[in-house]
Amino acid sequence: MSRPAVLVTKRLPSATLLALEQSCDIDLNEGEAYLTNEQLIDRIRGKQGLIALMPDAIDRTVIEAGDALKVIAVVAVGYNNIDIAAARDRGVIVTNTPDVLTEATADLTWALILNITRRISEGERLVRAGRWQGFRFDFMLGTDLAGKQLGVVGYGRIGRAVAARARAFGMRIACVSRSRTSGDDVEPMSLDRLLLTSDVVSLHVPLTPDTRHLINQAALARMKRSAYLINAARGPVVDEPALVWALKNRIISGAALDVYEDEPKVHPELLALDNVVLSPHMGSSTTETRTAMADLAVRNVLAVLAGESPLTPVR
Ligand code: GLV
Repeated sequence: MSRPAVLVTKRLPSATLLALEQSCDIDLNEGEAYLTNEQLIDRIRGKQGLIALMPDAIDRTVIEAGDALKVIAVVAVGYNNIDIAAARDRGVIVTNTPDVLTEATADLTWALILNITRRISEGERLVRAGRWQGFRFDFMLGTDLAGKQLGVVGYGRIGRAVAARARAFGMRIACVSRSRTSGDDVEPMSLDRLLLTSDVVSLHVPLTPDTRHLINQAALARMKRSAYLINAARGPVVDEPALVWALKNRIISGAALDVYEDEPKVHPELLALDNVVLSPHMGSSTTETRTAMADLAVRNVLAVLAGESPLTPVR
């Protein structure tokens, strides 16, 4: 019997690829760049499996070119880069990598919260530039977190893990949640009320037509002038020019972003502002977590190709 073929759009850990190689032929993109639409269309032909990363645009043209395609495994929890309707039309199963990246992404979110409220990056820039003139009592004053309210927008796995850490910092927790379930100490509320009352607003929704530009100029204008916005979800959830307006005019105190509207581009005016922390989309970027994500994607592909149910299908 011939072995199934799998297109892997970027290098994954060797041990992970070795596990895939036991039963599949691998077509691996060894290049530095992501595959273009034309290259994807060309290389997907005859492949039963596709392992893709977050920046790969797996649109209808790619999925329809996959004449033998059975499974698309995204090595990410978000799957807005896959045309799910096109996959469904062709009977192709799509899987993602939830759970394994929850703690790492919540940790990074907290790194952003602490960084912007205590001005760590701003202070480091000053030290490196040789502009620090020694201890001063009223220098680099930040903001306390204890007793303040964290507003979690999107109370799924990652939102809950971010909230769990907030307890250790003595924060009150509010959330906007599709399901009404939340812990005793978590107050569900409308987005409008959460924006009006929170000291830190942290975004944890997937990118969908409903959440695109959820945080626009009107939403930012609802926030407290002393509040901070954190985005480690997807860039287009925030209207970037509106955020620049809010930061420049001190409509809010600051923002910390791990994701951007048009990655890897960053709005040029954000680069010039001191009241924003910018990290390069690295929410799940730890050795352990990235390995677990790659392993899970491979296990999903192997399960589907063996005629079994995938572990983490996208519903
Ligand atoms: C990363 O952004 C992910 O969705 O896993």
